[in-house]
Amino acid sequence: MSDSTTTRQPTNRVLPHELPASLRDAGLDNWFREPLDDAIDRKRRIIMPPAAAVMGTPASAYQGALLAEAHHDDTIFMMGDNPALPKMPDRPTLRDFYLLRFGKIPRTHLLQSARVARENGLGEKVIMACLLHDIAIAGLLSANHGYWGAQMVRPYVDDEVAWAIEKHEALRYFADESVGYTYPQAYIDYFGPDYRPPDYLRREAEAARQHRWYMTSRLVTINDIYSFDANVVAEFDAFEDLVGRNFRQPEEGLGFDGSPVAHMWRTMIWPNNFL
Ligand SMILES: [Fe+2]
Ligand SMILES: [Fe+2]
Repeated sequence: MSDSTTTRQPTNRVLPHELPASLRDAGLDNWFREPLDDAIDRKRRIIMPPAAAVMGTPASAYQGALLAEAHHDDTIFMMGDNPALPKMPDRPTLRDFYLLRFGKIPRTHLLQSARVARENGLGEKVIMACLLHDIAIAGLLSANHGYWGAQMVRPYVDDEVAWAIEKHEALRYFADESVGYTYPQAYIDYFGPDYRPPDYLRREAEAARQHRWYMTSRLVTINDIYSFDANVVAEFDAFEDLVGRNFRQPEEGLGFDGSPVAHMWRTMIWPNNFL
């Protein structure tokens, strides 16, 4: 009988080789997953930080050093399930991404925004758009998040919902006093009082204002909760029926339905894959 058929027990395993001091000094050991006692192969796993996360930061200079680490027998790159993240079901639904992938702050922000929209008596398309509007920040990328988010959900929601999510990117910067929307105080805190949005967003906002769905997107910005309130409890399950009616969950699971955006959902399932 070979060893592989016996029960695996933690043993006096050999520790992986010492990381170079230069990597430790640079704080890059955050990108290493040390072998777990119960891991099958006892390898150290390197997470290569994605370019979008490290461009313009000192960490971008260490790509070569991280690559060199993979030459060691006890070290490989992270592929597939990262044990630091909850395992996703084989056919993940929208709910699974909210509960198993999104951080507490963006998740709560989305749920609170949808909750306020519902309390304000708004229609289901607006509430759905509020529930999804910052989904890209929650799971993918912050820059251009309105565009990323709209793209991710477009195959599964009404066109008006995807449009509203996309256009909130531009509209949130521009006041519409006629409906009580003023430039958010939070943006003065975030960007400073002198920040001016780029011209392309100004043009986008002006065009959106002429569109027949303008108010749907404007209502997303009006119900956007610009300050995170940890005391307001909002659960995804409170929107289960709404999601059932307004989000076409693919039978194969998000990420596996062969849609033009499936890769975006897979990136959130396995965000640390090397390639
Ligand atoms: Fe947003
Ligand atoms: Fe938001």
